[in-house]
Amino acid sequence: MSNAPVDTGRRRFLTAATAVVGGAGAVAVAVPFIKSWNPSAKAKAAGAPVEVNISKVEPGQLIRVEWRGKPVWIVRRTEEVLNQLPSLNDQLRDPNSEELQQPAYASNAVRSIKPEYFIAVGICTHLGCSPTYLPDTFGEQVQGITSGFFCPCHGSKFDMAGRVFSGVPAPLNLVIPPHQYISDGLVIIGVDQGAA
Ligand code: FES
Repeated sequence: MSNAPVDTGRRRFLTAATAVVGGAGAVAVAVPFIKSWNPSAKAKAAGAPVEVNISKVEPGQLIRVEWRGKPVWIVRRTEEVLNQLPSLNDQLRDPNSEELQQPAYASNAVRSIKPEYFIAVGICTHLGCSPTYLPDTFGEQVQGITSGFFCPCHGSKFDMAGRVFSGVPAPLNLVIPPHQYISDGLVIIGVDQGAA
């Protein structure tokens, strides 16, 4: 160990210089964060609610819109499809939608505000592929179901309320996004009832 006298003046200087560099570093790091607190107009638009005119959607038709970078489906269900839903319950993993995959106002037997229109995020709850729509086949089975959604990635199946069948890889029903009707033919995706 050296017996040389400690140069406390130099040490004090080094400590001060380090503190200043540290301060400058903190400022440099803070700038990107501050920028991210002020999202660009594009970022705001990407997260914005989407208004959809559904007045021309035909019975049995599915239309897709994009909300927050995700596909959202709007399907106009026929009376026959709606009548068939209760008969599928014993083939489903969560027929009563007890797992919270939907807002409270869509927690019902048909998982929607208006029975005629089914609105869901079109992403499989297994690993995120987008399932294929199988319109009503009037009794004929396609991929083991007469209507609903089939995920080609690993074979998950969902009925026309987005409820997952038992024995497939997807663990949960499809997600119902927040939405509300502002008139008979207009729905907004991304806004809860009463919040628009
Ligand atoms: S991602 Fe749909 S079944 Fe795997």
